[in-house]
Amino acid sequence: MLSNRIQKIQPSMTLAITAKAKALKQAGVDVISFGAGEPDFPTPRYIRDAAIEKVEEGHIGYTAASGILELKTAICKKLQADQGVGYQENQIVISTGAKQALFNTFQAILNPGDEVLIGVPYWVSYPELVKVADGVPVFVETKEENQYKLTVAELEAARTDKTKAIILNSPNNPTGVVYMEKELLAIGTWAVEHDIWIISDEIYEKLVYGDVEHISIASLSKEIHKKTIIINGFSKAYAMTGWRIGYSAAPVEITKGMTSLQSHVSSNPNTISQYAALAALEKESGEVEAMRVVFEKRKELMVKIVSTIPEIQFIDPQGAFYVMVDCSYYLKKFHFDSASELAQAMLEEASIAVIPGDAFGMNTYIRLSYATSEALIEEGLERIRAYLTR
Ligand SMILES: Cc1ncc(COP(=O)(O)O)c(C=O)c1O
Repeated sequence: MLSNRIQKIQPSMTLAITAKAKALKQAGVDVISFGAGEPDFPTPRYIRDAAIEKVEEGHIGYTAASGILELKTAICKKLQADQGVGYQENQIVISTGAKQALFNTFQAILNPGDEVLIGVPYWVSYPELVKVADGVPVFVETKEENQYKLTVAELEAARTDKTKAIILNSPNNPTGVVYMEKELLAIGTWAVEHDIWIISDEIYEKLVYGDVEHISIASLSKEIHKKTIIINGFSKAYAMTGWRIGYSAAPVEITKGMTSLQSHVSSNPNTISQYAALAALEKESGEVEAMRVVFEKRKELMVKIVSTIPEIQFIDPQGAFYVMVDCSYYLKKFHFDSASELAQAMLEEASIAVIPGDAFGMNTYIRLSYATSEALIEEGLERIRAYLTR
């Protein structure tokens, strides 16, 4: 029989839908997928070349549990240059994706019953990772008029003496919204005042559009820095999802605990991928920006078309690669109880894959990813329009 801990968690709904869409495609069905949580670009050539070189040189053994020193040094430099926050190598753990960095974080800071405040909508894995650490996810409803960003008033209303941490994700998956400096400062000041950890998931940091800027909450004051654990990785910015490299930047004591855990769980993140990530940081010459520009064009195209579909509201994104679309009107029209029924029907009847907002705690929305070509964005959205307005 399964443990109580594992019985408490759900498999990733986003991965499940993506897998079903892939299986249909392989069976010859012409599925257009807006499900992707990953860039559709190949990993840039210079990164692939660096990895091949390292294999040929024989860098194929174990590394230190928390990763190679050169990569930690490069990450510290990056955090200083991009985020304006100072870290030492002994504050960095390199992990198997940002997912493992989050797993390590919750394992390191939570005791049974500790509460973690999570804004709704939230990325699908946060509550489950909190639960596997015997923590309690506490969902904080956000408001449309605040673009679904958390406010101090909402956090304060949810705070108890068991509140141990909050999760901030900017740019946000699924909404695409980006927190501004004054919003972050207010939240950071509140967290410091109440001795609450801030877990700042900055994985979409490089994907911001227009004149919007990504700001790391850790950069706003020394006190906030001390209470922040930054989570980041190479999956989204460098099109390296399958290489599985992420990292945490945290106070030394927490880092030691995470390192010790990781040394038993996975020994070290993939060695070759660590060298690839090192090259990604050290030899980058415009590739990340080139991908960002393409994403921005696609976002504009998607927003333009979505805004012409009748009876639909959406959250105007400023970052990441998703548009959250409110389908309340159509759920009523077709007598669906939730977006997951709509998503299921769209996949079966219109060969369109979308992620139902149920996965993010917003069950009248669907999430459309624009990590796909402009031609498929146009054709896929026309299919959605035809399906909804039939
Ligand atoms: C908000 C957010 N955080 C973390 C991750 C994990 O990324 P990875 O484990 O590939 O580094 C994802 C991936 O979808 C994400 O969307």
